[in-house]
Amino acid sequence: MKEYSSNMVTIENDIFGVYKSLFKDQRSTFFFWKGRVALYSLLQCIGLKPGDEVIIPGFTCVVVANAIKYLGAKPVYADIDPLTFNMTVETVKPLISPKTKVIIAQNTFGLSPDLDSLLTLVEERGLYLIEDCAHGLGGSYKNRPAGTVAHATFFSTQWSKPITTGLGGIAYVRDRKLAERMVDFHRTLAEPGFSDRIMLALQLMFFPLVNSPHLYYNLVNLYRFLTQKSGLSVGSSSRDELEEPKMPVDYLKKMSPLQIRLFHRNVAKLEKKARKREEAWNRYSDFFLSKRIQLLYSTEIEGHSMLRYPIRVKNKAKVLRKARQHKIPIGDWFVSPLHPVEGSLEPWRYKIGMCPQAEKACNEVINLFTDHPLSTKKMRILYDIIDKEMIG
Ligand SMILES: Cc1ncc(COP(=O)(O)O)c(C=O)c1O
Repeated sequence: MKEYSSNMVTIENDIFGVYKSLFKDQRSTFFFWKGRVALYSLLQCIGLKPGDEVIIPGFTCVVVANAIKYLGAKPVYADIDPLTFNMTVETVKPLISPKTKVIIAQNTFGLSPDLDSLLTLVEERGLYLIEDCAHGLGGSYKNRPAGTVAHATFFSTQWSKPITTGLGGIAYVRDRKLAERMVDFHRTLAEPGFSDRIMLALQLMFFPLVNSPHLYYNLVNLYRFLTQKSGLSVGSSSRDELEEPKMPVDYLKKMSPLQIRLFHRNVAKLEKKARKREEAWNRYSDFFLSKRIQLLYSTEIEGHSMLRYPIRVKNKAKVLRKARQHKIPIGDWFVSPLHPVEGSLEPWRYKIGMCPQAEKACNEVINLFTDHPLSTKKMRILYDIIDKEMIG
């Protein structure tokens, strides 16, 4: 008989105070216009050279591979564990070559990868471990706040992330020598220009007014139109970044003072937000358990930041289409090994078949938002849609 176990989560109590002081330390924390710029800066300061290799998960955002390509280096793709959606020592080890310089371990949907074993591996081989903690702010790994374990970490504060400053990226560097190089590099970067700052300030003003589950699909359409079709560079990714790995002009920028102020204000409210997410996650978990659905998701490693609640379905396109018809906001992360690019991934050196588990997850995973949890009525409608489609 199949066992149905709960996957309830609890957040550690003491991580929020640590975050507050950590982000105030100007010798180890650096603020950028976007998370991808923080990553690029880390790679640049590590001294990544053309021909070097960087191992990343084959279940990520294309801008991660772009940052590597912009320096002339090569992304190498590690498969994921189907239960945690993260790379593991087993998937990474066979890919290490004499050219490997860095491993980027991603915190996917808010769940930490097993950083201690990855750190042991990179230290044995004399490499750097960077954590992509774009989804993970507010979670923990073995009682340590997410993002404080690897040699360096980058966070994102783009709209869909645990806290937002509209756009934004933060690098936190634990390795002293790397931090010193980051201080010098960060000093050379420009602040965002007048038009970037005005457009972002306008978006920040309007975001709370339109950030509701009812308007979700309209908002996504408008945002994609403004940033990709109209060519306005206010959004997360410009058209160029999704077409080829060529660095856009104006890519390398710091965060604006307005964003930095907003960030610190939001860090102070992080615990409250994280507790709401925890409640939403546990409600979803209860609901699916009551339907005797075993979720294919492991929270065994450690505290989760619970950004997205992943579910596997047989026909992802159909579920997404029906959810849209019923105005039920659900996420599609990730639609391809290099989200959101759905065409050829050759420009990024990804060939279909390289990461079978990641490709399977791209075809199966949808995710529920935890910042605006679905009402019980909407959960029931969603359940009717996915009932026959669920894998579990
Ligand atoms: C896993 C992951 N890494 C990195 C990024 C890049 O962050 P940003 O948009 O702030 O550059 C994103 C998303 O946007 C992401 O989902």
